[in-house]
Amino acid sequence: MLVASFVGQKGGVGKSALARVLAVAAARRSKNVLIADFDLEQLSCVEWSAARLRLGQFPEVESRAFKSLKKLRKTVEGFDLVVVDTRGLADDLTDDVSKESDIVFLPTGTSMDDLRPTLALARKIARNTNPDKVVLILSKTGRSERQIEEARTLIENAGFALLEAVWPQRDGFQAEFDSGRAGSEVSNPYLRQSAEAVEKAMLNHLFRS
Ligand SMILES: Nc1ncnc2c1ncn2[C@@H]1O[C@H](COP(=O)(O)OP(=O)(O)O)[C@@H](O)[C@H]1O
Ligand SMILES: [Mg+2]
Repeated sequence: MLVASFVGQKGGVGKSALARVLAVAAARRSKNVLIADFDLEQLSCVEWSAARLRLGQFPEVESRAFKSLKKLRKTVEGFDLVVVDTRGLADDLTDDVSKESDIVFLPTGTSMDDLRPTLALARKIARNTNPDKVVLILSKTGRSERQIEEARTLIENAGFALLEAVWPQRDGFQAEFDSGRAGSEVSNPYLRQSAEAVEKAMLNHLFRS
């Protein structure tokens, strides 16, 4: 069994949206996948799984709420992949989840306001576990290639792995998310391609781990 987690120091950076892309990718490959939703305030993934079921989106993706890792450990038997979605605040749970993960994805915006806390968290996680597990993702990026390149350089200079593909912020994703789809399942081909690139890159890092 593999564990992939999405952590961050901020809310709204795309953790849940990316967790769903990875979970759907695994489910489509006939893997038994569970999203463990630790964001009990939002329960974005639990709600999304329910919407998916209600609206008949295939494949089904199971998502359950968890308060502690102890509970999760008792549940994971029989799953090939557990995707852990956490809340927008790094805490002790972030450390524990990171230690138990095969890979830890940290989505971040391209601004220094986002990069500074993300790099600080990445260093903390790297100190506590294997630094090779840590992969940053440029997430909800705007249309400025220069901003993306500058962020890429900063992250690489800091010595961290960065997902090759970026997760672009586009209005077209919203309505599709609300219908229980993941980014990789949207009808707009341009949006779907960018989500598929992110999906492929996440799978590569996961299976390399
Ligand atoms: N690529 C994207 N384009 C547009 N909106 C997005 C994108 N990714 C996520 N969102 C939206 O941004 C908000 C925050 O995303 P979410 O994945 O919930 O972040 P987090 O889990 O880090 O708080 C949500 O309303 C979500 O639907
Ligand atoms: Mg979330």
